[in-house]
Amino acid sequence: MSVRVAVIGAGVMGADHARILAKDVPAAQLQVICDASEARAIDLGETLGAKHVLTDPMAALSRDDVDAVLIASPDDTHAALSIAALQAGKHVLCEKPLAPTYADCLRVIEAEIRLGERRVHVGFMRRFDPAYTAMKTALNDGLIGRPLMMHNFHRNVSAPDWFTGQMAISNSAPHEFDIGRFMLCSDYVSITVAQSASGRTIAPVFMTLETADGQLVNIEVNNNAAYGYDVRGELVGEAGSIDLGAPKHATYNVSLQSAQRFDEDWRPRFSDAYRLQNRAWIDGIANGTPDPRLATAWDGLCSTLVAEAGVIALEAGSKQAIKTPAKPALYEQKRQEFPREEPAE
Ligand SMILES: NC(=O)c1ccc[n+]([C@@H]2O[C@H](COP(=O)([O-])OP(=O)(O)OC[C@H]3O[C@@H](n4cnc5c(N)ncnc54)[C@H](O)[C@@H]3O)[C@@H](O)[C@H]2O)c1
Repeated sequence: MSVRVAVIGAGVMGADHARILAKDVPAAQLQVICDASEARAIDLGETLGAKHVLTDPMAALSRDDVDAVLIASPDDTHAALSIAALQAGKHVLCEKPLAPTYADCLRVIEAEIRLGERRVHVGFMRRFDPAYTAMKTALNDGLIGRPLMMHNFHRNVSAPDWFTGQMAISNSAPHEFDIGRFMLCSDYVSITVAQSASGRTIAPVFMTLETADGQLVNIEVNNNAAYGYDVRGELVGEAGSIDLGAPKHATYNVSLQSAQRFDEDWRPRFSDAYRLQNRAWIDGIANGTPDPRLATAWDGLCSTLVAEAGVIALEAGSKQAIKTPAKPALYEQKRQEFPREEPAE
């Protein structure tokens, strides 16, 4: 069975997702490219051979010849489009965040509960990154015993002038909020945020979170790191630690020096993750069983809840409690199982 997909938003992420669906996901059929900019939609639709090109997202997601919708339009459109897609009986992969506010995330959750089926997934693709997968597999195998701490570094080359410390928390850090919670299988109970002094518009933001199981998670988000896109992580357990290992480029040892190249942004670093995520999403729809690694709408709500508390913690300069509501029965699922190797091409 071919899963017919409408991609909403043909910008940076939508174009990448559409390309993956058209070229790297055998069970997907690129049915619609939709963007508010007609020129952008036509350009991408023609390049990738989409069957239809539209500018109205509601018209795209309600078509009879569409089974699934990938939402890659701006954050504040996500909740309304996810709910409309659910009402039209479609499956959804929504780019992060599920919504910028907890209240809007809850509206998506309520719509899914009314439907009685988990049909919305959120694009927290690091869950499919081979390095994080290896970390999770080793943890589940008991290699480092009980996990105690997770260190995270998230660095971008530079941020635009309008980017703020609050946005570092609500826009960049949700990937770390999600991967930490996914790795440790425990919800956060508090967050503290500090911002270092800098002459730049946005200085690094440093967060410390505690989980319900007493683990500590720290996250540095440095959107003006200057030298390259760099994501690092280390999981520390009672019997050892697992280092994520960072860029996958060669190391050059020349003239008494050692050097390694960094990417300019996140897309090359996480290209495998996007591809594996999208393939898992489509295969799950085709065979009727969602891949348990995919982030659910509930995971999306939990991440936004933490981000909201983090922004208050930064502004107030004090630790904020995070009170995660009881998980609705619809979102209970078995512990995630992990493949030992990356799936064959
Ligand atoms: N998973 C990740 O690593 C990651 C990375 C970057 C961005 N994102 C998320 O992806 C989403 C898109 O980000 P981007 O960087 O591609 O943005 P972008 O600005 O490059 O693209 C957004 C596109 O959506 C279109 N658009 C705006 N409103 C629309 C509407 N109502 N209907 C249809 N099209 C509409 C715009 O014309 C634009 O082409 C955001 O939610 C962002 O937070 C995720």
